[in-house]
Amino acid sequence: MDHPSVYRLTYELWEGGARGVTASLSPDMPEGPRVLLPIPAKGQWASMLIPTVLDHLLDPASRPSVWTHSTRVRLTGCIIGTAFPPGRFRSGGTTELGTPPFRNPLSAQVIPMVSVAVIGLGYWGPNLARNFATSPRTTLTRLCDLAPDRVSAVGIGYPAAMLSTDTDEVMEDPSVDAVAIATPVSTHHSLAKRALLAGKHVLVEKPLAATSEEAVDLIETAEDRGLVLLVDHIFLYSPAVRKVIEICRSGDIGELNFIDSVRINLGLIQGDVNVLWDLAPHDLSIIDSLVGRAPRSVVAVGESHVANGTVDVSYLHLDYEGVTAAIHLNWLAPVKIRHLMVGGSKKSVLYNDLDRSEPVKIYDSGVNVVADSLSRQGLLVSYRSGDVLSPRLDSFEPLSELVTHFAECIENGATPLSGGEQGLRIVRILEAADRSLAQGGARIAVMT
Ligand SMILES: NC(=O)c1ccc[n+]([C@@H]2O[C@H](COP(=O)([O-])OP(=O)(O)OC[C@H]3O[C@@H](n4cnc5c(N)ncnc54)[C@H](O)[C@@H]3O)[C@@H](O)[C@H]2O)c1
Repeated sequence: MDHPSVYRLTYELWEGGARGVTASLSPDMPEGPRVLLPIPAKGQWASMLIPTVLDHLLDPASRPSVWTHSTRVRLTGCIIGTAFPPGRFRSGGTTELGTPPFRNPLSAQVIPMVSVAVIGLGYWGPNLARNFATSPRTTLTRLCDLAPDRVSAVGIGYPAAMLSTDTDEVMEDPSVDAVAIATPVSTHHSLAKRALLAGKHVLVEKPLAATSEEAVDLIETAEDRGLVLLVDHIFLYSPAVRKVIEICRSGDIGELNFIDSVRINLGLIQGDVNVLWDLAPHDLSIIDSLVGRAPRSVVAVGESHVANGTVDVSYLHLDYEGVTAAIHLNWLAPVKIRHLMVGGSKKSVLYNDLDRSEPVKIYDSGVNVVADSLSRQGLLVSYRSGDVLSPRLDSFEPLSELVTHFAECIENGATPLSGGEQGLRIVRILEAADRSLAQGGARIAVMT
C-alpha cells in the first residue's frame, strides 16, 4: 500500500462528556470516517483512529473490509507515546505518529460493538446517549429528535455521532444495529415497530407502549425477526433493587405478605399520559420481579388538580392473591419520597431510594401470633422488635448496567431482564388501572 512517509495526527480535545479527540491525517492522507480517540492510555478503548494507519497495525486477517463509524479498535498499547500527557485538555495540536512500522503502537484489534442510535433527546434521552457513548460494548452512532434545538444541544457533546431530525434516516442507516427510543409514550409503538421492521434491535423507554395491543405487536414483531426488545425498567438495574430482590428470593424474609410503595414529589407533568403511566412502571417492574406473576385485579383512584383533566395524584392497589400491593403516585407533593417496603412473614425490607448511604434496610421485626384459648380472640399476639441490618451494595450506575445488558442480549442472545413480556404485563395493569379510575375505583380484572 502506498503511504506517506510520516503520518501526522491533528487533534482537538474537549473537557466533559466527549473526552477525546477527533482526528484527521494531514497533509497527504485522505480523510477517513470521522474518528474519536479517547485520551490514549494503555488498555483504553479507542474508536477508530485512521483506517490507513490502523491497516498497518492490524493483522491482515482481522482487518475489516469496510471501515465505518461504528468500527471500533482496541489499542493494546499507547499509540502516540508521550504525545498526550495525562490530564484534561482544551486545546488542539498536531503530533507525529512516525513512519510505519510505528515507534510506539503495540497492537490493535477490531472489536465488535453494537452501533446504537438514540431517538428522543428531551429529558431522558441524553442519559441514554451518554451511557451508549461511554460503554465499551456500544458505540453511539446517531442522535435524532424532531426538535432541531434538542439535536444541536445534545449533539455538541458527541462529535462522532451523526445528527438528524429525520427518523427515516436512522431507520434506513445500515450501520445502526440498535435503536433506543426515548420519546413520548404515544410514539413508542410506531417508532419501535419501524425500527424492528428495519432489522434493528430496540430499547424502548417505559412504558413499552400505549396499549396492550401495541405491546403484543412489538413482542411478536421482535420474535418473528429474532431481534431484542428491551424495556427501560431502569430500577431493575439498580444495585439497591437487585439487593431487595435477592433478599426476598432467598426466603430470608419468609412468605411475601405485602408491598407498599410511595413515589411522590413535584413531578414533570407529562403531556400524553397520567401520573400512573408515567411513574407506576418503576414500582410495577420491581413488584413484578418480586412476585413473579400478574395481579388478579386492580383498584385505582385518583384526581386531576392541575394537569387539565389528566390524573396527577393516584393510589393504585393490586391484588396478587396472597400478596397485596399498594402504590402512591403523585406529581404534586412538595416533598420527595421514594420508599418501597416489602413485608414478609419473618422480616421486612425497606428500600429508600433517597438514602445515599443505606438505601436498603432489613428489619427483623414483626408480629407473632399463636393460638391461646384463654384470650378473648383465641390468639396470643406478641411483637418482635429485632435488629436492623443494612447490607453492603455494589456500586454502579443503573443505566450503564442496562446498556451493557442490552449489548449482551444482542451479542449473546441472552434473555432481557426487562423484556417485552414484562413490559406487556405492566401495560395491562395500567390499562386496568385506567378503567378503574374511570369507574370511580371499581375493582378491575387484569388480563393475563
Ligand atoms: N427510565 C426512566 O427513569 C425515565 C425517566 C424519564 C422519562 N422516561 C421515559 O422517556 C420517554 C421520554 O420522556 P422525557 O421525559 O424525556 O420526555 P421529553 O418530552 O422531555 O422528551 C421527548 C423528546 O422526544 C422528541 N420526540 C417526540 N416525538 C418524536 C418523534 N416521533 N421522533 C423523534 N423525536 C421525537 C421530542 O422532541 C422531545 O425532545 C418517556 O417514555 C418517559 O416515560 C424514562
